[in-house]
Parts: sequence; structure tokens; C-alpha cells
Amino acid sequence: MKITVKSIMAMKQKGEKITALTAYEALFAGFIDSAGIDVVLVGDSAGMVFAGHDTTIPVTMDDMVYHAGSVRRSVKNALLVVDMPFMSYQVSVEEALRNAGRLVKEGGAEAVKLEGGRSVVPQLRACVEAGIPVMGHLGMTPQSVHRFGGFLTQGKSPEAARMLLEDALAVQEAGAFSLVLEKIPAALAAEITQKLEIPTIGIGAGVHTDGQILVTQDMLGMYEKFKPKFVRLYARLAEDIRTALNRYAEEVRAGAFPADEESY
Ligand code: KIV
Repeated sequence: MKITVKSIMAMKQKGEKITALTAYEALFAGFIDSAGIDVVLVGDSAGMVFAGHDTTIPVTMDDMVYHAGSVRRSVKNALLVVDMPFMSYQVSVEEALRNAGRLVKEGGAEAVKLEGGRSVVPQLRACVEAGIPVMGHLGMTPQSVHRFGGFLTQGKSPEAARMLLEDALAVQEAGAFSLVLEKIPAALAAEITQKLEIPTIGIGAGVHTDGQILVTQDMLGMYEKFKPKFVRLYARLAEDIRTALNRYAEEVRAGAFPADEESY
């Protein structure tokens, strides 16, 4: 069944948990879609996981259009959400609209995601009014890594928690259909989830959000640069990949590959 923005919003009302994972290219996107995951996010984490940068900051609009187009070709049922990269929406409402439009027209996005609260409300509202659904993103928003001084847990002090709640309400009021909450205390995520009508999707935000998202290469045990505490390993593919590559190299060197049945 095709998942839409409407069905994601209805899931909160029905008390059904929302499942979400990231994808950057067609192969993984196909696995994720056929597993029945509700939301595929083309995350700007592509900059770290796919392109090898230390942060998401260098990711460009052209990068995101390319990744979105690759994922689009494999996603049949899931809702396809695409991240707006750093500085593609912060400068002005006009730039935000133009860039969100590119992700929809050229990348096949059904919704875009942008980071921030009250400071991005004009951009968020303009996208929604132009017919582009928006997913918000609050808490440890990776595009602000330099302001935070690292990928640190947010919303820990009572004042920071109050600001986050106000941002969440502002994002909802501006028309977002859902909100990612990243790396914040579970109790705060539960409070925000309870106060919002739109669904929250947590990553490192405890179990009481309306859904969960992880970076696919993290949960499959492929991305080894760092492993946040909130990642559960559902596979250890890096080990399998290394074993396979070493075996291939050994067999080529030993003349054991290819065999007769693999030759013409
Ligand atoms: O870029 C990304 O992958 C994300 C998710 C981790 C929420 O924003």
C-alpha cells in the first residue's frame, strides 16, 4: 500500500508506530521499500556515510538531487522524504522554495526535511503553502554541529528543554506533517510527542516517540567511524564484507578463481 503524508499522520491517531530508515542509492532503497518500511529518508548523512566527510556540512543541492533520483527509482510504497542540505534554505524563503522545488521536481521527493525551529518557520510555511510537505528536525541537528561543539545531546537543561518544546510547537503551527527528534532525553521526547498532534520520529530520543529512524548503514553494522549509543546493531555487515573481500583476493592470487564453471 502506498504510504502518503496523510497516512503517516493518521498512524499517530491510530497509535501505530512509524518505521523509517535512510537510503542514498537504488539498491538499499529497494531492500528497505520491500521490507515495508513506512518512510525512506534520503538523508544528508550521505555526506558522511557515502562521501566520507566528517560532517553533513559539505553536502550540496546537486548531491541531494542525485541521491534522491537514485532512491526514487526503487521506492514504490514508502513515503520518500529528502533532506534539504546546509545553506539550501537558511538564507531566504525564496532560496528555500527554489531548492525544495528542485528536490520534488528533479529528485522525486514527496516531502522535504529541514532542520531548525522558530528560525526556519517562514521557509517551512512557504514550502507547505507551495504544496510541498515538510518534515521538521529538532534536537541534535547535525548541520549545527559547530554551534553545538560536537554531536552532543541537546535539551538537557530545563531552559533548553523549554526552548525545544516551543520550537516543536512552532514547527507544527507552521504546517509540518511530522518532526524528527534527534539525541534528546527520552522524557523530553515523550513530553513533546504528547503535546504535538503531528507524529514525532525519534533517533536517540527514547521509545515514546511515534516512530523511529536510524541510518541504515549504522544499524547494519557497516559504518564504523563512530557508533552512537542509540544505534542497535541488527547485523554486522562490515565483518562479512571484509571476510568476502579477503577471500576473493586470496582466491584470485592462488588461481582458485574463476573455476571452469565460471569461465566460457
Ligand atoms: O541525515 C540523516 O540521515 C538524518 C536522519 C538521521 C534523521 O537526518
